Amino acid sequence: MPLVSMRQLLDEAAKGGYGVGAFNVNDMEQVQAVMEAARQTNSPAIISASRGARKFAQDRYLFHLILAANELYPEIPLVMHLDHGNSFETCKSAIELGYTSVMMDGSLKEDGKTPASFEENVAVTKQVVDYAHERGVTVEGEIGVLGGIEDGHGAGGTGLEHITDPDQAVEFAERTGVDALAIAIGTSHGAYKFSKKPDGSVLKMNVLLAIHKRLPNTHLVMHGSSSVPKDLHDIINKYGGKLKPTWGVPIEEIQLGIRNGVRKVNVDTDNRLAITGAVRKVLWESPEAFDPRAYLRPAREAMQKVVALRMKQFGQAGHAGDYKAVSIAEIAKGYKNGTLSTKPLVAR
Ligand code: G3H
Ligand code: 13P
Ligand code: ZN
Repeated sequence: MPLVSMRQLLDEAAKGGYGVGAFNVNDMEQVQAVMEAARQTNSPAIISASRGARKFAQDRYLFHLILAANELYPEIPLVMHLDHGNSFETCKSAIELGYTSVMMDGSLKEDGKTPASFEENVAVTKQVVDYAHERGVTVEGEIGVLGGIEDGHGAGGTGLEHITDPDQAVEFAERTGVDALAIAIGTSHGAYKFSKKPDGSVLKMNVLLAIHKRLPNTHLVMHGSSSVPKDLHDIINKYGGKLKPTWGVPIEEIQLGIRNGVRKVNVDTDNRLAITGAVRKVLWESPEAFDPRAYLRPAREAMQKVVALRMKQFGQAGHAGDYKAVSIAEIAKGYKNGTLSTKPLVAR
């Protein structure tokens, strides 16, 4: 089937009451790990490419790797998604290339560091929505600012500085017409999210519930959703790593979110940990090894294991065959004639 729009995938997930993991990739092995996990669990899939990934792999290499995945796994509904677009131009370049979904992260200015004003965020996000919808491409926006910094992207901080205000979330959804809304509830990108198992003082699930109450039909997105499992952390440190103690987002909190409007769950760090642990183990145990396949194969398998587990935990497993892909051209018509609504249902 052709690449699908994220809007179709998330609408379907809402009907089925499940969440869909969005997994970041930078290279062939990571693309393969996501697709094998999707086949293994019969899941629809979202592959995310950040600006950093597009630069690291070179835009066209990455694009063609994801196209190859689409060709080789025709039974898997697959979305090619831009993660954290920092400007209209970045989103436009992904759409021109053939991405079926983009995130316009207008919560930060174009530098990817400085928090933007609400009006700036609305303006740039709306500009992307108008351009993308005309072409059948889905748009995710962000309101509130996450903590942490990954590869130079992020405002830093603990994640508690810019928690999403539910009233602003409603206004943002109404004024921009985004298909999916990322919110800030205390999570951060990267491995160091919480200094102990998070409770409601740092992981604000009550804010998520309040937003879902006001926007009951809006697809919510949780960023910074790696769980940072202790076993993956421990493997790295056992084989010479020096990671500090840390906690991620417990799976049961993500599942609570999924029962309350979360349809897309972003995971990158857990896969990075799995890959690094597997590579370290091989190089530690077999210092004579020098064929990259000796460590890339276990690294790929370790990522596949994490992704398959998350696909089961988020509930997307078993749903690959539920629907037929609608072409991007048809989706564009749907936005135009109003069968695909861009006006959120608001509970006042
Ligand atoms: O949002 C952050 C993702 O983990 C991607 O990270 O910008 O280092 O590729 P990156
Ligand atoms: P993690 O760093 O928690 O994996 O979050 C990834 C993310 O939000 C990508 O957009
Ligand atoms: Zn993110």
